[in-house]
Amino acid sequence: MASGSVKLIRPVRNVSGSLRLPGDKSISHRYAMLGAIAEGPTRLKNFSTGADCASTLACLGTLGVAWDRSDNEIVIRGEGPTLRAPASPLDCGNSGSTMRMLSGILAGQSFPSELFGDTSLSRRPMARIIEPLEQMGARISSAEGNRPPLGIAGGPLAAIHYAMPVASAQVKSSLLFAGLFARGQTSIEEPIRTRDHGELALRAFGVELHRQGNQARIAGGQQLRAIEASIPGDISSAAFFLCAAALFPQSNLTITDLLMNPTRARLLDILLAMGARISVAQLEEHHGELVGTVEIEGGTLKGATVAGSDTAALIDEIPVLAAIAPYTSTGVEIRDARELRVKESDRISAVARNLRTMGARVEELEDGLKIPGGQDLHGAEIDSEGDHRIAMAFAVAALRATEETLIHGAEAAVISYPEFFEALEGVVAR
Ligand code: S3P
Repeated sequence: MASGSVKLIRPVRNVSGSLRLPGDKSISHRYAMLGAIAEGPTRLKNFSTGADCASTLACLGTLGVAWDRSDNEIVIRGEGPTLRAPASPLDCGNSGSTMRMLSGILAGQSFPSELFGDTSLSRRPMARIIEPLEQMGARISSAEGNRPPLGIAGGPLAAIHYAMPVASAQVKSSLLFAGLFARGQTSIEEPIRTRDHGELALRAFGVELHRQGNQARIAGGQQLRAIEASIPGDISSAAFFLCAAALFPQSNLTITDLLMNPTRARLLDILLAMGARISVAQLEEHHGELVGTVEIEGGTLKGATVAGSDTAALIDEIPVLAAIAPYTSTGVEIRDARELRVKESDRISAVARNLRTMGARVEELEDGLKIPGGQDLHGAEIDSEGDHRIAMAFAVAALRATEETLIHGAEAAVISYPEFFEALEGVVAR
């Protein structure tokens, strides 16, 4: 059982009210990293409050980038592409995004650097960035099995054409960032379309980037221009509230200023198909990212099958979708989700184990889960396994359970959404 704080979740009648979420984690990481190598002050409002993005900021500080946080704004004082050699190893905490994407920038610097993480990050695969960055000319050492810590001997890079074997937006961004430092045109091809925040952020900072089908191409040596931005609310954090509201026919929840980027909003399509009523209004575009207000009313939910490109598009939302699956009429089947086994925890087995603890029947597959519908869950003692999305997913499942639930290791939520439990209490009706 994960040690740390325990949260008690009592059943509710519905989920209603209005919410605005802290800035999207994926965009916050990218704007911070690109702001660090741009010229001039980058001003970011509604930056993610999660510990993961704080890890990125701390690493940038160690690399000589001045930044400060006041009220709801972070200012990153970039001085161009050349960073300062770090006096100590860079602590990426729990954040795979920090380690993988920053590696792309560090590969092109003229100094060596070392990156390490916590126990969970130290188990995660890094071959996916080591191999292509080495093809570009970087030399990277790692622990057994290509795990962290990483030692990067930065230096001159050469452009490559790289067809990524794994669908990963972190890898794609890492290589496009490295492409900025490479001689020639780097082109990256992904097997399935993944989130495109890296491409949109690069363009926002004034970089010329070409997209054709599943390929993105970038020329090295381009200068970045600082930006001012307000970061849209994190849709992966909103997912917990959307799924919670969907569970109760009398729910009526509004989420304002929410990221609506089509490569991230697939959960809305799935919930609609399952029978939730959803409307989107006030759509706007900021630095290429769509933002809008979402209103959701719950209902009797049907099940769903999630596979192929849907799985890749929904990867961070699968734990919560699976956690509410027993309450649907026909159940949920998740396939092609092997990547979930190498996230902050093995999310396939963590979901299966915790659902069984709540009394559900679940079939665990190598690449997913089969969860029959029409099941009632009872209150239980949940183990977050130190994984933020597992802690929050089961807080949602607990809202419709027959008794109280205890979430052990609830503090893991700080990784992406420190205010989660407070915000949840603010929109539930008992
Ligand atoms: C992310 C991409 C996904 C996702 C992670 C954030 C990003 O990881 O699971 O939470 O910001 O690019 P992968 O790139 O490993 O698929």
